[in-house]
Amino acid sequence: MMAATTATNFSSASIASGNVKVGLVPKMKSSGLQMKSTHDFRDFSGLKAAASLTCESESSFLGKDGVTALRNSFQTKAVTQNIQSLASLQPKIQASFKVAVLGAAGGIGQPLSLLVKMSPLVSNLHLYDIANVKGVAADLSHCNTPSEALAFTGPEQLGDALKGVDVVVIPAGVPRKPGMTRDDLFNINAGIVKTLVEAVADNCPDAFIHIISNPVNSTVPIAAEVLKQKGVYNPKKLFGVTTLDVVRANTFVAQKKNLKLIDVDVPVIGGHAGITILPLLSKTKPSASFTDEEIEELTVRIQNAGTEVVEAKAGAGSATLSMAYAAARFVESSLRALDGDSDVYECSFVQSELTDLPFFASRVKLGKNGVEAFLNSDLQGLTDYESKALEALKPELTASIEKGIAFANK
Ligand SMILES: NC(=O)c1ccc[n+]([C@@H]2O[C@H](COP(=O)([O-])OP(=O)(O)OC[C@H]3O[C@@H](n4cnc5c(N)ncnc54)[C@H](O)[C@@H]3O)[C@@H](O)[C@H]2O)c1
Repeated sequence: MMAATTATNFSSASIASGNVKVGLVPKMKSSGLQMKSTHDFRDFSGLKAAASLTCESESSFLGKDGVTALRNSFQTKAVTQNIQSLASLQPKIQASFKVAVLGAAGGIGQPLSLLVKMSPLVSNLHLYDIANVKGVAADLSHCNTPSEALAFTGPEQLGDALKGVDVVVIPAGVPRKPGMTRDDLFNINAGIVKTLVEAVADNCPDAFIHIISNPVNSTVPIAAEVLKQKGVYNPKKLFGVTTLDVVRANTFVAQKKNLKLIDVDVPVIGGHAGITILPLLSKTKPSASFTDEEIEELTVRIQNAGTEVVEAKAGAGSATLSMAYAAARFVESSLRALDGDSDVYECSFVQSELTDLPFFASRVKLGKNGVEAFLNSDLQGLTDYESKALEALKPELTASIEKGIAFANK
């Protein structure tokens, strides 16, 4: 069955503390020309398969009626159970949110925009870049999904790209080349993020802001300072996107422990660079035991996974496709929270009081107004390894945060 399902959509972030299901996980859709007979579908909402579907499908990727099939693939406010056929699924969502992607023509921006274009929660997709974005928007606009994709180019159109937007995603900037750290990007990306967030403050100060541009450990504090200077800072709505660290941790742990990928959830805390990325393997769901060697090996691999991709791409950039996947998951989670879903949890680098650091990545509960709660239980009962790693990351993370704050205030 799994071999016959190839198209992946994004389902909800859905965990409950204590009884953890996880953030956004794939929801399998039928695909392929051979899907003419009866097939079982597992409708994933959160960590566990929430329902087992049997359906008659003659569909290709988006089905005979692409929009209907797409709508049917997303169930935003309820976990569908005991569903007999896809035909009985009623669309529960209405496309109504506006999303802007700043840096939409880039390596991350293009696949991210495609994935956001597939969300039935999105009515307007604003694609902004300083170059080549018209073609991206023209291309995407031919996809028969509910949202309208529009191009905006150059500083003079930035304000229009942002007006009325609910979620702004910022992957604008330069990526790493082999031998570079994320901090090496600071000199270029700090200025880009500062300028873009100033425009966000002027045009859509109530939007959720998702910062992807590296170094996230510094660009998020820069964004916070800019928003403060403009008098519109809402710490609950400013997010550093660390979802890729969680995605990687889940993948690597599932491989190592031979677990079903869909079941695995590993919270990742701290920041988004090197040793500041701290996967809490002791909090893996379902619970798994690791030898000391496995903990060291997995932790180091998760911390260096971005470099793995940078080196494999050998000068052609850093992670783009997995990053787009992770960013789309975070966008979808945010939209579901905005849509009133009360069970949305994700890890993110946010203003935080969980530690003595002003910004810290941890699991948070998302709601209509942004961060609703912190899952401080994740930081309780850490192993010695995790406690030491947490202390060890603090100086570097503090320095990166201070560097961002100083840049924004100079
Ligand atoms: N948070 C994460 O987990 C994560 C993961 C991977 C990459 N990244 C970061 O994401 C960023 C983008 O990576 P990429 O691979 O897409 O790079 P890319 O060079 O392929 O694309 C960047 C895009 O940003 C655009 N851009 C540059 N300056 C701009 C400006 N002032 N306004 C609007 N657009 C502008 C460029 O024209 C380009 O289209 C990098 O900083 C990279 O380090 C973050």
